[in-house]
Amino acid sequence: MISYGKQSIDQADIDSVVEILKGDWLTQGPAVETFEDDLQKYFGAKHVCTVSNGTAALHLSALTLGWQPNDIVITSPLTFLATANCIVYAGATPDFVDIDPISYTIDPNKVEKKVKHFRSVGKNVKAIIGIDFAGHPCDWQALREIADKYDLQLVNDNCHALGAIYLNDKQYAVKYADLVIQSYHPVKHITTGEGGAILTNNSDLDEKVRRLRTHGMTKDPNLMENNDGPWYYEMHEVGFNYRITDFQCALGSSQLKKLDSFVEKRHKIANRYNHSLANMENLIIPKEQSATKHSYHLYPLQIDFEKLPLTKVEFFEKLKNAGIQLQVHYIPIHLQPFYKKRYGFQTGDFPLSENFYHSGVSLPVYPDLSVDEQKIVIEKIKQFLNE
Ligand SMILES: Cc1ncc(COP(=O)(O)O)c(C=O)c1O
Repeated sequence: MISYGKQSIDQADIDSVVEILKGDWLTQGPAVETFEDDLQKYFGAKHVCTVSNGTAALHLSALTLGWQPNDIVITSPLTFLATANCIVYAGATPDFVDIDPISYTIDPNKVEKKVKHFRSVGKNVKAIIGIDFAGHPCDWQALREIADKYDLQLVNDNCHALGAIYLNDKQYAVKYADLVIQSYHPVKHITTGEGGAILTNNSDLDEKVRRLRTHGMTKDPNLMENNDGPWYYEMHEVGFNYRITDFQCALGSSQLKKLDSFVEKRHKIANRYNHSLANMENLIIPKEQSATKHSYHLYPLQIDFEKLPLTKVEFFEKLKNAGIQLQVHYIPIHLQPFYKKRYGFQTGDFPLSENFYHSGVSLPVYPDLSVDEQKIVIEKIKQFLNE
């Protein structure tokens, strides 16, 4: 079965993990620090705190930024559940702003309109979470301007966009957002199995994230009320065990060395799809805006099923029977029963995201997808859409 995404592991990755398994450290050892240093260098971040997964990174971000019950946090409905759930974890109120029709990322004009509206009725908007959807960066310049103008915190859910370029800059993420979230789940650009990180240039935020990663404990004499001896620690706020292990981080460092080549391979695959599908009727291929490099975590193809004799479900089934497992990213979050019931969102609230959901399918894209496998995917898509 050809799936929509898959990890790429080679002998160097395996050797790096085996080496750690033979050593003294399994949990938080030197490989964690090395991976954090490697991420720091690659992404140009002053601080990187690795955690057990991307959802934990979002949860710690929400707590670190101090979101409270009366705070509204705005994000895009076109994302994975975890992006919005972290707002709920903190007890704050999630709200959404529709996507830009070209980049499929949150539309800054609509963000500003919404913030102005909330301000005019005395409601407190606290933060914006942008998602670099599918690997295409948000309009971070515009989002930063809005954040500065209205004194808002800005978070980048960067899970899809490792290795992407914005305004000719691969290290863009921490330059615009206060906190940047990554995930190293196997379908992402690099993997540690489960894993994630929070990147920032703000040392206070980093220190707080680090405390919350380990139960809220501190051994910093400047923060402690007492100091009974070298074993002593204190807890001033409640935290979690969101640590990642040493052997996962060894895999992470080994994978990171290949990130650029992984992105190049994804680009080649995307170019082949573009070339084969661009001129077909009823299809919209993903676009790359100028001075931007898409990192193609996903290849989202839009198909106008209303103009075709087959439904999306039938298309899915036919491809599955031909050995190709597509995916859909995403069911817009405001349509989830939890969000409808608790916050009153309705079908029709965010029409561009909803249309995207109805027409969108994610085609297979991962470094080890062979040219022959991709040829089969393209051939079958053409066959089923033209039948
Ligand atoms: C946009 C986005 N945010 C957050 C997450 C959560 O990451 P993790 O699966 O590592 O918890 C994902 C993972 O699928 C994601 O795609």
